[in-house]
This record gives sequence, C-alpha cells and structure tokens, in this order.
Amino acid sequence: MKKLTVNLGNNSYDIQIGSGVLGQAGHELSERGFTGQAVIITNPLVNNLHGDRLRESLTQAGFTASVLLVPDGEEQKSLTVAGRLYHELAEHYVERTTPILALGGGVIGDLAGFVAATYLRGVPLIQVPTTLLAQVDSSIGGKVALDHDLLKNKIGAFYQPKLVISDISTLKTLDPKILTDGLAEVIKYGVIWDKPLLTYLEDNLNRIKAFDEGALGEIVLRSAEIKAKVVATDERDTGLRAILNYGHTVGHAIEAVSDFKIAHGEAVALGMIAAARISNRMDMLKTEELIRLQNLIGQAGLPTRLPDYRLPDLIQAMKHDKKVTAGKIRFILPKSLGKVLLTDSVSLSLVEQILSGWKETD
Ligand SMILES: NC(=O)c1ccc[n+]([C@@H]2O[C@H](COP(=O)([O-])OP(=O)(O)OC[C@H]3O[C@@H](n4cnc5c(N)ncnc54)[C@H](O)[C@@H]3O)[C@@H](O)[C@H]2O)c1
Ligand SMILES: [Zn+2]
Repeated sequence: MKKLTVNLGNNSYDIQIGSGVLGQAGHELSERGFTGQAVIITNPLVNNLHGDRLRESLTQAGFTASVLLVPDGEEQKSLTVAGRLYHELAEHYVERTTPILALGGGVIGDLAGFVAATYLRGVPLIQVPTTLLAQVDSSIGGKVALDHDLLKNKIGAFYQPKLVISDISTLKTLDPKILTDGLAEVIKYGVIWDKPLLTYLEDNLNRIKAFDEGALGEIVLRSAEIKAKVVATDERDTGLRAILNYGHTVGHAIEAVSDFKIAHGEAVALGMIAAARISNRMDMLKTEELIRLQNLIGQAGLPTRLPDYRLPDLIQAMKHDKKVTAGKIRFILPKSLGKVLLTDSVSLSLVEQILSGWKETD
C-alpha cells in the first residue's frame, strides 16, 4: 500500500492506494478515532461488485454499517436525490460524528460528498473511489457538487474528505470504455506536470488496457501525487489549480455541443489536442511533441479527430463556459510536454482557425 498526504493544515488527509485496501477501511477508520455507525452511499452496480468487502471490513472493525443506494447515472447528482438521502440519514439517526463513505465513481463521490458537507453542517466524509477518473481526480481536492437545471457542478462546496481509499483491484471490474475515459485525465497530468508519466504511459498502455494492477497502481499513484500537490498549493481554486483545466476549455464546449453524449474523457482528449495545436501555432509546443501527444491519445483509445460539430456552436459554448474578454479566451497551453502556461492572449479567431482546420487531419 502506498500513502500520500494532501497537506492542507487542519484539513490534511491521507490517500491510500493499493490492491485490497478496501479491506482495511474499517481498521483505518478505527485508527482515526471513529466508532459506532458508518454509512456507505453507493449505487447497486458498485454495491454488488465491491459493497460486501467494504461492509465486512467495517463490521469486523466493530462498526454498524448501513448502505444507502442511489441509482446509477449523472442525473442522480441532484437536489432531489440529495433531499432523499438527508431523509434516509435522519431515519438512520446519523450524528455529527458518523462517517459517510462514498463508494463509487465521481457521481457518487460528488453526490455523497455534497450530502456529507451539508447534513448537520458537515459529517466526516471518506472517499472510496472505484473508477480511474475518481481515483486520479474527483476524490482528491474537496470539490463536491450537484447539477441543477443547466448548472452542471455549480451547486457545491469545498469539503475535504478525512481519508481517500483507492483500491486498485476495484478497477478490474470497470467497463474498458470507462477505464479509457479516465486515461484522458492521466494524460493530462503528464502534459501539465510530469513528462516521464507520458513515457510510462507510452511504454505500458498494453498492461493498463489489460487491467494489470501494477501498471494501474503506478498511474493512479503518480496522478494522485500531482493532484494532491496542486490542491495543497491552491485549495480554493484561485491560482495554480487552473492548470488542471488543461483540455477542459474546448472539452467542456464539446461536451455541451454533443448534449453530453460524448464521454468527458473523450471531450477532454480533443480539448487537449486543440490546446496543443493552438500552442504549436503560437510557436510554443514543438510539432514533434504535438504529434507525440496525439499518438498517445489515439493509442489510449481516445478520439483524435474532432466530430463534425458546427463551429459557431462550439464557439458559443466556449463563450458561455469561460470568461471571454475582448475576443480572447483563457487557455491552459502546453509550452512543452510537462509544462503549461495560463494565458489570456489566445484570440477567438485563432481558436476558430484551429477548430475548423482540424477535421481533415488525424
Ligand atoms: N469533484 C471533482 O473534482 C470532480 C472532478 C472530475 C469529475 N467529477 C465528476 O465525476 C463524475 C464522473 O465520474 P466517473 O467518470 O467516475 O463516472 P461515474 O461515477 O458515472 O462512473 C462511471 C460508471 O462506472 C460504474 N462503476 C463505478 N465503479 C465501478 C467499478 N469498480 N466496476 C464497474 N463499474 C463501476 C458506475 O456505476 C457508472 O456506471 C461527473 O459527475 C463529474 O462531474 C468531479
Ligand atoms: Zn476532467
């Protein structure tokens, strides 16, 4: 088992990464002074696959474990579902000190996290992420959120967990497409921070795609390390944390224009290529590095070709999503692989040129 710490003063917490760490959850909670009741929030799919192991671990450590089930799907990240969970927590006599364990992907993590942040003005939250995306991204950093009307992830809070338990063995039951989707964020960490991680990915994609626990453990650890460092520097997202948005400026626009039919990782993959192409055109990222990045994204099984969306729709979505001032959009651009720069100097017309000139090439 590997342990990382997110250093946030009084809000610091550990991230435990390894195969089988789920079975240690009860012990780890006892060590941290929790006793009595513990509540798991999960969905039926994840519960059937991994719920027993977590529940047994809690029971063995002397906890009374209850499981609250939420159906699968992004649409569950709603005030209505949160309201239902508050009701169930009250029925279970959950107290200020009762830990809530979010067992699942980012949807469960965000929803259970929001509920933990607000119920009784905050009960302890333990993130137990079971998708690659959740282990490398959403479980770390304390952003919890719901969707409301057109406001995706806009109703939320900063609420750090007390512990993150990332059991690599849970990833083995993922649909391969969902694993691939999560790889986009891992590639992102390589581009913004860690060029050797890109080399590791290039050398080990076959092992990763075959769900090799050693290779998965390595990419989760290295990604989580980067996210933990960035978050420790900028807990409230007022500075450095912006670099985590690499690929997301265009990515979010693609998601919106596709009416959220395209997977997040696929949209981010395309957004990363768009930003890399912009950087290349601005004489920063070298052409060979751009090609290397595109090849890695393609080999990972993510798209490298922009679907046939209408350019004005994409631009409109980008204007809606991000601050656009005087015809400029804020971008995170790779200067070289492993280093990014935040800039307000990208013109809308360059973005248009890149997006419209890209379809015919790979
Ligand atoms: N809070 C943050 O900082 C942050 C960051 C990025 C994304 N997010 C949010 O995360 C969500 C996306 O998360 P996601 O990609 O994990 O999607 P998800 O939670 O919907 O999980 C994807 C699918 O995998 C299933 N699943 C989960 N674990 C499994 C396992 N071990 N085996 C088999 N199936 C499993 C889920 O039931 C679901 O069907 C979005 O709502 C997004 O807004 C939050
Ligand atoms: Zn993302």
